[in-house]
Amino acid sequence: MKIKSSRLETIAATLNQYPVDDLPEIAFAGRSNVGKSSFINAVINRKNLARTSSKPGKTRTVNFYNINEEFRLVDLPGYGYAAVSKTEKENWAKIIETYLNNRKNLYETILIVDIRHKPTENDKQMYDWILSYDFTGFVIANKADKISKSKFKTNIDIIMKALNIKDRDLIIPFSSEKKINIDIIREQIENIIKY
Ligand code: GTP
Ligand code: MG
Repeated sequence: MKIKSSRLETIAATLNQYPVDDLPEIAFAGRSNVGKSSFINAVINRKNLARTSSKPGKTRTVNFYNINEEFRLVDLPGYGYAAVSKTEKENWAKIIETYLNNRKNLYETILIVDIRHKPTENDKQMYDWILSYDFTGFVIANKADKISKSKFKTNIDIIMKALNIKDRDLIIPFSSEKKINIDIIREQIENIIKY
């Protein structure tokens, strides 16, 4: 897949702000600070089109990135950071649910986790939620630059077990920082939007 153009098309807080559902979309969910926005930047080869931050909770809306005027990558708000009220958590769930329930052009929702850590209870809930919508269940194990390659297998095993994944091929070690497996990811995206 060649990235010819990319632009932030829409930042949406509510359903009526979404762009027209005329293009295939792939959405990315995951814990706050896991690197969802960085992932999108890496894939589209832009330094900071998707705003990132070392402080969790940066993305709190549904952000639609239009790629090549052909498809969209969708940055979902992160969950699970500590300093958040109950109301805010409920609000988060509503934002995600509204998005998942109302996108007939949503081809896949992909979970991003941190390859260094066992997925949290929230990750498991999010993953089960994704599966309940009949998505394939791809997982990106980000920040792979932070561990040595010899540890990939052990850590992937932990992620598989925690999320109850049987098929190893569903999990792709990745690094936005070092662009580990970036070609595989771009190919995967191309395959998804072809359907
Ligand atoms: P929210 O918007 O809060 O949900 O976070 P996010 O998931 O979008 O995370 P973001 O992309 O803002 O990245 C969070 C922090 O992790 C930033 O400081 C990034 O530089 C860092 N980061 C993201 N991906 C990687 C990676 O592959 N390797 C390393 N070493 N750092 C990364
Ligand atoms: Mg973000």
